[in-house]
Amino acid sequence: MASIYLQTFGCQMNTADSNGLAHQAWSMGCTFTDDPAQADIIIVNTCAIREKAETRVYGRLGQLKPFKDSKPETKVLVAGCLAEKDRNVMRQKAPFIDALLGPREYNRFKQLLADWGVPTDLAPPETEFTMPSPEDDPGHDGPAQFSHLRALVNITRGCEKFCTYCIVPYTRGPLESLDPDDIESQIHREIRCGAKEITLLGQNVNSYYHAPTGLTFAQLLRRIGRIEGLERLTFLTSHPKDFGPDVVDALAELPNISPRLHLPLQSASDSVLKAMARLYTIDEYLEKVAYFRERLPRWALTTDLIVGYPTETEEDFLATLALVERGTFEYAFIFAYSPRAGTPAATMSPQVDPAEKIRRLQVLNTAQNEVMRRFNESFIGETVRVLTQGPSKKDPARMAGKSGHNATVIWPRDPATEHRAFVDVAVDQAFQWGLAGTAV
Ligand code: 5AD
Ligand code: SF4
Repeated sequence: MASIYLQTFGCQMNTADSNGLAHQAWSMGCTFTDDPAQADIIIVNTCAIREKAETRVYGRLGQLKPFKDSKPETKVLVAGCLAEKDRNVMRQKAPFIDALLGPREYNRFKQLLADWGVPTDLAPPETEFTMPSPEDDPGHDGPAQFSHLRALVNITRGCEKFCTYCIVPYTRGPLESLDPDDIESQIHREIRCGAKEITLLGQNVNSYYHAPTGLTFAQLLRRIGRIEGLERLTFLTSHPKDFGPDVVDALAELPNISPRLHLPLQSASDSVLKAMARLYTIDEYLEKVAYFRERLPRWALTTDLIVGYPTETEEDFLATLALVERGTFEYAFIFAYSPRAGTPAATMSPQVDPAEKIRRLQVLNTAQNEVMRRFNESFIGETVRVLTQGPSKKDPARMAGKSGHNATVIWPRDPATEHRAFVDVAVDQAFQWGLAGTAV
């Protein structure tokens, strides 16, 4: 029986893929360990979205090398987006690796395990499958026994938008919409296993289209919204071009939908948006947001922003800053542009000076933090429903969880509420990072 160490970098798509790999290995009778020294097989599921992600992956591979050196029969598999992107240089940079599998090659995983001596004829174990290892950056996330409350379910794979800065279409391939019946049965399965919150996943969920039945994303949402036992539903991520009023109307009908929408803008400058090939103008984006705000008041709008994209001028940047300062987004993920070899933007000129990118990043972050703090403060005096994650990492005397808006919420730990999936918390304090209160 083989023992596996599995570590995941990157986005939720990768977490979902790791889940799938772990499930396949489990069905072949493998067990899991969080100690690489104990492992027969080491798997690192990698990310290539920005240079920083790559650096962290290579750093981790360097740390794992001694385990292979001291026990050469240990097999090392590098999976994920960096395995795909660096296919030809990975073996040079990390020669101790035994195999590479890109995100579109996981159908070869079982065969690989078989090649490595894992028997294929064992019956699946009698114990329930649970996701073995923590994510790379669990943040405030609690211990593993709570992770089954939240489940990730893919509805699309790949992306064919080809935004000029992005590596994903190259690593994950063209768009594919999954069968609605399969999606629904996976959700049923997750609920049976205890999931309270389902996140529908796709690089661009709005372009979901099931050709045989003509089902759109809005229709899929309505169908999923009726599933019994589904207490919280959310989805990631949307492309503004395909995000239409039909989706907003569907969201307005769903009782269990979390009040948050992630709609990556990237930049508020039309010339930068055009250079990025984002396929919308800032006015078109704001028009969609206006309808969303009208139909879904008090939802949180979250976004992604890139500063220092090639050709971005001070004026372009100030347009993005002004939009952020106006409180357009409750939360935002802000990134300094990172050139990805093979993408059009990497060779575009002029590139923005790295120090200037960092300055713009800091200015924008400061502005957004202020908006975030004000939004969090608006919950003081209210009671929010929190999905428990477990004892807080920073202070085990407190519990931590997520509100429907996805704010981190902490409250004093007590035996009465400790094992509940949902806790209502009366908020009495707000911070930039989240909310604090007491269980009611
Ligand atoms: N540099 C910086 N940020 C990037 N993103 C994607 N590619 C890059 C890049 N090359 C950001 C975008 C996207 C988020 C997932 O990552 O904002 O929405
Ligand atoms: Fe996810 Fe993109 Fe990183 Fe791949 S490159 S793991 S799709 S964030």
